[in-house]
Amino acid sequence: MTDLNLAVVVLAAGQGTRMKSARPKVLHTLAGRSLIGHVLATAAELGPQHVIAVVRHEREAVVATISDVMPGAIIVDQDEVPGTGRAVEVAIQALPADFDGDIVVVSGDVPLLDAATLAALVEQHRAASAAATLLSAIMDDATGYGRVVRDAEGLLDRIVEEKDANGDERGITEVNSGTYVFRLAALREQLPLLTTANASGEKYLTDVIGLLRSTGSAVAAVPVADGWTVAGVNDRAQLAAAARRMNDLIVRRWQLEGVTVQDPLTTWIDADVVLAPDVELLPGTQLLGATLVREGAIIGPDTTLTSTEVGAGARVSRTDATLAVIGDGATVGPWAFLRPGTYLGADGKIGTFVETKNARIGTGSKVPHLSYIGDAEIGEHTNIGAGAITANYDDIAKHVTTIGDHVHTGAHNVFVAPVRIGDGAKVGAGAVVRKDVPPGALAISVAPQRNREGWVQENRAGTASAEAAEAASPDA
Ligand code: UD1
Ligand code: CA
Repeated sequence: MTDLNLAVVVLAAGQGTRMKSARPKVLHTLAGRSLIGHVLATAAELGPQHVIAVVRHEREAVVATISDVMPGAIIVDQDEVPGTGRAVEVAIQALPADFDGDIVVVSGDVPLLDAATLAALVEQHRAASAAATLLSAIMDDATGYGRVVRDAEGLLDRIVEEKDANGDERGITEVNSGTYVFRLAALREQLPLLTTANASGEKYLTDVIGLLRSTGSAVAAVPVADGWTVAGVNDRAQLAAAARRMNDLIVRRWQLEGVTVQDPLTTWIDADVVLAPDVELLPGTQLLGATLVREGAIIGPDTTLTSTEVGAGARVSRTDATLAVIGDGATVGPWAFLRPGTYLGADGKIGTFVETKNARIGTGSKVPHLSYIGDAEIGEHTNIGAGAITANYDDIAKHVTTIGDHVHTGAHNVFVAPVRIGDGAKVGAGAVVRKDVPPGALAISVAPQRNREGWVQENRAGTASAEAAEAASPDA
């Protein structure tokens, strides 16, 4: 449901210097989404009338991601005046004239913030008719954060940034999370009063709190129960820590939904993955992108599935698969490589050291050993012999190999595409199949074998082989 009196401003104009990256900070990813992607998803859950994203650094890349994740977001460019206060000032100028209500401000670098926490903050803010309500956190190590300064009665007085704080203030362990709710009218009044007269030479949004307090407006700081909720990502160590934390939360959520996770520490599940009850994940499993796993499937160990669908009761071990579909009851691996466009039917098998790409393998069909199957259509209940290669590329174009139902191909076959093998056909071992094979035919392309008796004894006299052959000859 849309809250018509609520707008969310997402701050994403900063440089992210501490990431030391060519990529803008808010586009670094965890759990398969960008930092700002997580924040926008949370903002959307809140159901605001408007979402405004403020950009500047690496504008084009950041805007491309925002438009992808949330096409309806209003994009606002921050000018050369630096600081979070300036960012919010330009943001609210972009609001439609008829909008009035509350403004939630969040940073684009706080990926673990959840909608329930934000909704509770908005509720508290409205219940108290406050001009500003901010989320604070008690941190063991407050380094880098703005500190929450309270008066003798414990009421919020102002925020002091670390660079501007005196020794006593630096000792404060309650920090500003950078997440706020403001009444729009209060922001309109106070933002133009901000100056850059501080240690950073920036317009601090945090100064609005002190200004409001001095005019007698109600302001409050509400501590979160769990500091992780508001942890900001400023460098790669914090990125990894936030990713670990998010993964712990995701794994736990699926465990409570009936998924067995043998080793949560080595199991990584992206935010958009969907798992059914009684799925079992063995150590070293990564489920990425939009992967979907149905009831009772067992995945792992050491398996990476990217946007792959796994059917009920399937068994996938030591496999790397991307954009593949694995049918109910099918078996994949160990050591299989499924590239995009692989479709394995129910009860089918893709076995050991098998690579597939753009290949449809029908119900009950098997490619058990040492094969490359690319650009292929294989029917139902067909068995592909060990060491099969579809020669799909002739230097100019890719061609298709079509194999029917109930076919048995031999060991070490090459299928030179385009080529068709009819239903029920057989192919001899070692055959190079260049011509279509009609249904029911046996295709052989290897020259008949000839044995030259005594060749070793004649040509390799005195060797161990010759001696062994001699000993084995019937008249020895
Ligand atoms: C800010 C707060 C600090 C708080 C901390 C919580 C201020 C002045 N300080 O500090 O009190 O403890 O967050 O994480 O607000 N941004 C812009 N435009 C700018 C500058 C920043 O859009 O000109 C954006 C950044 O992209 C980022 C967010 O605002 O998403 C916060 O900026 P950052 O530089 O990380 O602020 P902190 O120093 O962490
Ligand atoms: Ca920050």
